[in-house]
Amino acid sequence: MIDTRIDELSRHVGGTVTLRGWLYNKRSSGKLHFLEIRDGTGIVQAVVFKGAVTPETFALADHIPQESSVEVTGVVKEHAKIKGQYELDAKDVRLLAATSQEYPIGHKEHGTDFLMDHRHLWLRSRRQHAIVRVRHTIIKAVRDFFDGRGFTLVDAPIFTPSACEGTSNLFETDYHGDKAYLTQSGQLYMEAAAAAFGSVYCFGPTFRAEKSKTRRHLAEFWMVEPEVAFLDLEGDMRLAEDFISYVVGTVLEGRREELKVLERDTTALERVKAPFPRITYEQAVELLQRNGHPEAKVGDDFGGDEETVISGGFDRPVIVSRYPIGLKAFYFKRDPSDAGLALNMDILAPEGYGEIVGGGQREDDLAKLEAALDAHKLPREAFGWYLDVRRYGTFPHAGFGLGIERTVAWICGLPHVRETIPFPRMPSRLSP
Ligand code: 4AD
Ligand code: MG
Repeated sequence: MIDTRIDELSRHVGGTVTLRGWLYNKRSSGKLHFLEIRDGTGIVQAVVFKGAVTPETFALADHIPQESSVEVTGVVKEHAKIKGQYELDAKDVRLLAATSQEYPIGHKEHGTDFLMDHRHLWLRSRRQHAIVRVRHTIIKAVRDFFDGRGFTLVDAPIFTPSACEGTSNLFETDYHGDKAYLTQSGQLYMEAAAAAFGSVYCFGPTFRAEKSKTRRHLAEFWMVEPEVAFLDLEGDMRLAEDFISYVVGTVLEGRREELKVLERDTTALERVKAPFPRITYEQAVELLQRNGHPEAKVGDDFGGDEETVISGGFDRPVIVSRYPIGLKAFYFKRDPSDAGLALNMDILAPEGYGEIVGGGQREDDLAKLEAALDAHKLPREAFGWYLDVRRYGTFPHAGFGLGIERTVAWICGLPHVRETIPFPRMPSRLSP
């Protein structure tokens, strides 16, 4: 008798094994009970035949409450019709711990609020399990991509003395009597680190006190932010499209089963290969005007609806560059051929999943950067260390940030980011 896991059953066909897990589902027909057992690595059906177990075990198998923890011993069989799927002919079933009250999540429809309140239990369900596994693969692919290209991982701090992405959505906190803010982005630290290591990235949680409740905004989300010395906007776009293509390809290769559980149409994902189409902000505005937004004009920022219309014209992610400088954060370099434009780029995911990447080339001229801080009413003192990056051997550099949750939503085909992170933090949700 061998202790094993459901994802390793293929190695034990014909052998007797013991599994420990939870009762996911159950049905009965006369002399047979079918117990669906999950152990975190998969779900397997244990067939309890009246003639194969003791009468006590047979009676027990009929009365185990859903989500009780159980131990099942049986012979591993390959499914008669479905290759690669296995079953257990149970010889023994033990109840390790029965649920002390009825499990609140049944195999029926529940409202979103109810499920979010029970997020700690909801994670046990098949769909949520698939999403978290895809998320894990995305995060591993993110790291592998940059590690494989010689980037150095540099962790950015969470407590910061200043704003990176504007002051309107900062989480303020008390830091031993001083004001501190939860980081909105590690970018400014990556710019300093790029001068030390050349190509760097950080990956960690970032915070935005978003007032707007949308299906794309969380208060706490995870972002990967590469930054590269001596890279311009064009190189930045190439890096981003190679990176996104690699991440999508890795998920398609390694998480077919999960994408199937999520009923994701993978043909749309198969098309995600570099190079991505590129348009300017101005062309994006024209595209909007031609497609049901005649009121769109240069100077407007794009909301979720506009992003959906713009990306609707393309079958893979689209890179939108050179926004009016006034719409963008203080640190962007201006386009040398039109000082009214930023050397920035956003990448919009196809199928209406919105902006997944924001980035661009940074202002590397000290005087211009100081003027930009003043124009944004940001205190120069708080950015003294950041200005040092321009004082001591300034250099052209560029980078971007990719939001993990929006990427998970897109790749999994989920309408809302709340299911893309194990325990979401939203304006009206801090629990569980
Ligand atoms: O466009 P953002 O604000 O850019 C930055 O923070 C830059 N400092 C990044 C850089 O250049 N190093 O955010 C980058 C990405 C967005 O494209 C989006 O995917 C995600 O982060 N994001 C959010 N995801 C979930 N909830 C929110 N409230 C988000 N805000 C941004
Ligand atoms: Mg952005």
